[in-house]
Amino acid sequence: MLNGRVDIQRVDPLDLDLGTADEMAAIDRASIEAGGLDIPAPMGPSKLKALQLWSDSRPVAGLWLARVDGALVGHAMAHLPVESNSDSAHLRGTVHPEARRRGVGRALLAEVLDLARDQGRKKLYAGTWQTGAGGPALEAMGFSNEGLGVYAVRRVDVHNAPHGLWQRLYDEALGHAADYELVHMVGPTPDDLVEDMVGLHAAINDAPMEDPAAEADHWDADRVRAYDNAMAGRRQTVYRVLARHRPSGEWAGLSMLCVDEFNPTVAFQEDTSVVRAHRGHRLGLLMKADMLRWISQERPEVTAADTWNATNNHHMIAVNERLGATVIAHNQTYRLRD
Ligand SMILES: CC(C)(COP(=O)(O)OP(=O)(O)OC[C@H]1O[C@@H](n2cnc3c(N)ncnc32)[C@H](O)[C@@H]1OP(=O)(O)O)[C@@H](O)C(=O)NCCC(=O)NCCS
Repeated sequence: MLNGRVDIQRVDPLDLDLGTADEMAAIDRASIEAGGLDIPAPMGPSKLKALQLWSDSRPVAGLWLARVDGALVGHAMAHLPVESNSDSAHLRGTVHPEARRRGVGRALLAEVLDLARDQGRKKLYAGTWQTGAGGPALEAMGFSNEGLGVYAVRRVDVHNAPHGLWQRLYDEALGHAADYELVHMVGPTPDDLVEDMVGLHAAINDAPMEDPAAEADHWDADRVRAYDNAMAGRRQTVYRVLARHRPSGEWAGLSMLCVDEFNPTVAFQEDTSVVRAHRGHRLGLLMKADMLRWISQERPEVTAADTWNATNNHHMIAVNERLGATVIAHNQTYRLRD
């Protein structure tokens, strides 16, 4: 088995069927296991929806399937950002551990490169787990991680947290944030809040990025709506805790947690950001402690919450460690050498 020719097929993400998405997810699961990782493996339906509705609500720009003797052995996709960093392309790909080192990865990469070149994308990024085969393979294929970010994935064990921890941290943080109140929001942003949400999302641009040379992420009302639309279509329920400065009425901070309704056990922490003028009042800790308190009551099936932090994002890491988060994996960014 698996000695035949590698066939690569380009697929329109909107034509992808659930059976194939299930097979793709099975390859991801096998890869995660082979890397000895304890991170959530995607389910077929989540994968299908994500490829059709990337975070900007567009389908991914390229999707390829690799088969040997008719069996699906790998897949790759390319996302081409439009609103900012339009000189870049982001690649993700996985080859089944039993089909590796036979040229499947190279054949998939060649397709991604063709698309990136056709579309005038000069920078090609990929990320990989530090424990898997990805790093050595990317280096062999011409990528480098020089000057690029490493993300630590931290997990909060929601079910086994010390009793009352989040309430204590919430009370402590509130002692420094007497002028602020928190507001809860579930699902897409109501129309009358979209403009305010733009500033809250844009505040994430102060966080360290995977490539310090990249452009800041552009946020406007359409982007907020596109993000919310993508999440709703992907059956991701978005929980937002917002902080408001009571005396001025200004929105000061945002923390978001997503629950994948296809697999709700491990929730995913999206951005937590405090706008500059309101930093220094422990709003990060306040919003996150409140989120965990809220989610553990609202969604008892959520056993854990995972969050990605750049390893030099010291403030956010300190908050997450106080919440009891522990590191479960590291993901390294690579870029194809010029
Ligand atoms: C990265 C990945 C897709 C490569 O798939 P693959 O089918 O093994 O790739 P290929 O057989 O085409 O190998 C490509 C090159 O990498 C090298 N390589 C692959 N695995 C390697 C390893 N573990 N150590 C050293 N070199 C390795 C190969 O020798 C080859 O180089 P060469 O042609 O100069 O000999 C696969 O390892 C994988 O799925 N990893 C997990 C997911 C991941 O990290 N993806 C990163 C991209 S988003």
